[in-house]
Amino acid sequence: MKALILYSSRDGQTRSIASYIANKLQDTLRCDVIDLLQADNIDLTQYQQVLIGASVRYGHFHPTLGKFVKRHAEQLNRMPSAFFSVNLTARKADKRSPQTNAYTRKFLLASPWQPKQCAVFAGALRYPRYRWLDRVMIQLIMRMTGGETDSSKEVEYTDWQQVERFAQEFGHIQYEK
Ligand SMILES: Cc1cc2nc3c(=O)[nH]c(=O)nc-3n(C[C@H](O)[C@H](O)[C@H](O)COP(=O)(O)O)c2cc1C
Repeated sequence: MKALILYSSRDGQTRSIASYIANKLQDTLRCDVIDLLQADNIDLTQYQQVLIGASVRYGHFHPTLGKFVKRHAEQLNRMPSAFFSVNLTARKADKRSPQTNAYTRKFLLASPWQPKQCAVFAGALRYPRYRWLDRVMIQLIMRMTGGETDSSKEVEYTDWQQVERFAQEFGHIQYEK
């Protein structure tokens, strides 16, 4: 048996976090790391436990997340499972918990799947890689929220120690009835 790590990522940060977690667990747990976009028909019964990670864009997770969760909720709720979200609001420590991060709180409140373990990670800001309109929009949001506005910059806010702690917890997650 092994673990499944699914990710929904637009610019690669959530994918990097998913791979990092799989890497940290490699001595104790075999993990398949799969893009959520490719996972609709996946057989969850092949896995002992599941982790799903997703990033936020313009206030929303990718619609694939909601669809997947709705479709597989029953099975997901039967397994030890975990969720992490990735966004830039979480660069502020007081917005980095499932309760204080609005996107994550909202998702969990509405979700038919209730993961046993949940975390919020700060993502990355990579201005040079964005399309013009996205760059301007993110710059505006950063200006309004006191963040980095230099559009020549790439800043990674992810706290990798926090990710490592989460990976360790996920490695020990057990299903309790
Ligand atoms: C076009 C765009 C829109 C974004 N919208 C939000 C947002 O509404 N709230 C937020 O906290 N972060 C937002 N972000 C930041 C992303 O969540 C962050 O860059 C994250 O690292 C992206 O992860 P990914 O590379 O896995 O997609 C946005 C980023 C981009 C490029």
